[in-house]
Formats: sequence, C-alpha cells, structure tokens
Amino acid sequence: MTIRPRAAVILAAGQGTRMKSATAKPLHAVAGRAMLDWSLDLARSAGADRIVTIWGAHSPAVGDRAEAAGALAVLQDPPLGTGHAGRQAEAALKGFEGDVIVLYADTPLIRPETVEAVFAALDEAAVAVLGFEPDEPGGYGRLIESTPGQLDAIVEAKDASPAQRAVRLCNSGVIACRAEHLWGWLAKLTNDNAKGEYYLTDIVAMARAGGLDARVVRADEREVLGVNDRADLAAAEAAFQTRARADAMTAGVTLSAPETVFFSHDTELAADVVIEPHVVFGPGVSVAGGAVIRAFSHLEGAQVGAGCEVGPYARLRPGAVLEAGAKVGNFVEVKKSRLGEGAKANHLSYIGDSDVGAKANIGAGTITCNYDGFFKHRTVIGEGAFIGSNTSLVAPVEIGAGAMTGSGSVITGDVPGDALGLARARQETKPGWAARFRAAMSAKKTKAKE
Ligand code: UD1
Ligand code: MG
Repeated sequence: MTIRPRAAVILAAGQGTRMKSATAKPLHAVAGRAMLDWSLDLARSAGADRIVTIWGAHSPAVGDRAEAAGALAVLQDPPLGTGHAGRQAEAALKGFEGDVIVLYADTPLIRPETVEAVFAALDEAAVAVLGFEPDEPGGYGRLIESTPGQLDAIVEAKDASPAQRAVRLCNSGVIACRAEHLWGWLAKLTNDNAKGEYYLTDIVAMARAGGLDARVVRADEREVLGVNDRADLAAAEAAFQTRARADAMTAGVTLSAPETVFFSHDTELAADVVIEPHVVFGPGVSVAGGAVIRAFSHLEGAQVGAGCEVGPYARLRPGAVLEAGAKVGNFVEVKKSRLGEGAKANHLSYIGDSDVGAKANIGAGTITCNYDGFFKHRTVIGEGAFIGSNTSLVAPVEIGAGAMTGSGSVITGDVPGDALGLARARQETKPGWAARFRAAMSAKKTKAKE
C-alpha cells in the first residue's frame, strides 16, 4: 500500500435537535469521552496530520473544543448539507496533497483499523466508502453497486426508488478520496434533491461519470452506529461496553459477570486482573496484574498496583495511587493519595491528600480532615505506622515512620517516628452507675403513669 499524506474532515455542524439538549450533540459522552473527541482521536490514530472540524453557529463550544485539541475549526453557517460542510474545509486544507477522509462527530465507535482499510481502498479506487448492512436500513443512504465491489452511486433514502430502497447495503457516512478530486467535485454539487441539501454522497456518481472507480469497505453495524437521540446514545454506550468486556477477557482479565462491569474509553487492565461483579471504571484508571477489584467498587483516575485488593464497596477517586500489594477495603474512599507497598486501609475510611508509607495500617474509621473550608492540606503517614481506629488526622499533619495513634484520637500535631500520639479524654469508670441510673429512671416512669 502506498502511504500518502492524510487529512480528516470531521462533520459536526448538524443541529442534533433530537438530542433535546442544551449541550451540542458532539459533546455528549460515550464511555466517558465526548463523541467529538472520539472522532478527533480516530483521525489522529489513522495518521491524519491535518484535521479540520466543521462546527455550526448554534454550538461554538464544538469549535472551541476541537481547537483546544489541536485541530482546525471552521464555521459552517448556515449548514446546507454534508457536501456543503465538506466544502468549508477547502481553505483550511489549501495546498494539502494526499487522501482526505470525512468522519462524523456522532459516530464514535469506528476503529482505527477500519479507517486504515478505507484509506487502503484508495490504492485501487478514487473514492472509498465505509458501508454496512443494518437490520433496518430506514433513512440511511443506499450503496448502489453495478457489480459486487463496484460502487456506482449513493442514493439517499428520501430520493431512492422502491428498488433502490430495497438495497440493504448502506452508507455509514465515512467517505475518503484524494484531495485533488474532492474540491472539484464538491464545487459542482447541487441541492436538487428531496432534502434540498448539498449531499457529500453525490461525489460517488461524479467519480463514476468521470470514469473513476469507487469501492465499498464493509463494517459491522455496531461499529458504525450513529447517534441521533438519547436512545442511540445509550445504544452506543452499550455497544462500547460489550466490546470493552470482550477485549478485556481476550487480554487475560477475569470478569465473573461481564455484563455488570462498566469501562471507560481508556481503562487499562493488565493480564490476570480479576474484576468481580458490579464494578464501574470512570476515566483514567489502570490496574496492574494480579490485582483484584471486588464487587461494587467505583474507580476513577486511579492507578492500582500489582496484587492490590480493592473493595468490595471501595471508591478510588482521581489521584489515588496504590502501590503493589496495597489493600483498600469496604467503604473506604481514597482521593489524591498514595498508599505505599502493602499499606492497608481496610474499613470505613477517608484518605484524602495523603501520602501513606509502605506497610502502614490505617484503622477502621480513620478520617483525614483535609479541608478547612478554604484550603486542602496534606497528611503524611510514615512507613509501618499504625493509625488506631477512628482517628481523625487534622491536616496538615505528619505521623512518623513506625508511630502509632490511639483509637479515637483527634490528632492535630505531628507525631514523631515510633512515638504514640494520643489525643482523647481520659476514661472515667463509675462502678454501679448504670444500675443506679436504670433504677432511678424506672421509678420516675412508674410515678408518671400513676
Ligand atoms: C448522512 C448521509 C447518509 C448516511 C448517513 C449515515 C449524506 C447526504 N447522507 O445522512 O448517506 O447513510 O449520514 O448516518 O451525506 N452535518 C454538518 N453540516 C451539515 C449537515 C450535516 O456538519 O450541513 C454533519 C452532522 O452534524 C452529522 C453529519 O454531518 O455529523 C451527518 O449529517 P446528517 O444530517 O445526520 O446526515 P444524514 O441525513 O443522517
Ligand atoms: Mg444522521
């Protein structure tokens, strides 16, 4: 295959009215990532070094986000169809010679290898179209082939004859061709059709009229699923999750109830990780080999080291780093904190803005009081320290290596290494007091009833 320079045009100017949302459709998320970011990432991983996003006047946030991600952003105002949208990229791609692919910002699940296949098809044809056979072809454009493999035209459902509508092979929206052809064809489009729009899809018939070939590359329906409303968004999410679960198992991860585990677009799980039922991964999580994530845990922005145990019912928030063999048990929340090798926080704790040394033991109910209402403060716990149950560590505070705190202490000052920090009222024991109290109270109650 010949490698020519590649560019991508991402169409994101449509109204997206069926989402019924104050947020532009391309900014709605699938697996924790905006659909626009899915397409920008796809374009990048397909080797496009020039990426142009077409946005609409109703959603400047789309253009802003594309630019923030390093792409060019061009306004299409008013939006007059996919062909008109494609044409808006011409000035931004001035001087570009190579292959151009058109992607939609509402079709998030296309794989890089599929885009690679579309580019590869341009070795033999002037236009390559990603097609699929949906269960219900409905409103999709139909791919009309004269002989198998030779695409003659794309006919929109609204413009199709009954015979054309019966064709099951449909247009996913992904179309690629050489830049040198594209601008010439787009300039010649008309809007003489059922929708009164400039259709990008008409370039196939133009290529054929010029004696050039057009090819279809086929994809699975689940991969090219387009999002138009909230039900489609949920379907895309479900399709992603199904794929992520299968990919994880293929990579050597044990999922005892795969259908109850939810991944993010970037979840990284090493081989021999075990995930129990009902675990949710937010963005930015990596888990090293041999770690076990027990049932009903929620992880986000966290790094879990080799052989760690997390949960059941644990919450790891952004900045949680568990080094090898650390344990975080039930109803423990960890945020912006490192737990050193073999450190344990097994029950009912909040560990925030902390550095916990290797092999330290955090007793049940320990809370790091990290926030004074204005600022966050850090807690440092040394190696092998033992924090007694129900200790409040009022940050900033440092507990030295090997030090201990007494259960129930409210620790406001540093505790040096190997020392005991005790900060609670001394116990008073009154023999017989409880029995006397009960007698007095029941006498009072009897009197009140008389
Ligand atoms: C389009 C295709 C159809 C294909 C279907 C796949 C055309 C003419 N039709 O139809 O063959 O089966 O997608 O989903 O191309 N957009 C703009 N500016 C515009 C119009 C659209 O940026 O002026 C963007 C939209 O934001 C969207 C994409 O282009 O991302 C597709 O537009 P849409 O109106 O949904 O096209 P369909 O009618 O679905
Ligand atoms: Mg559409």
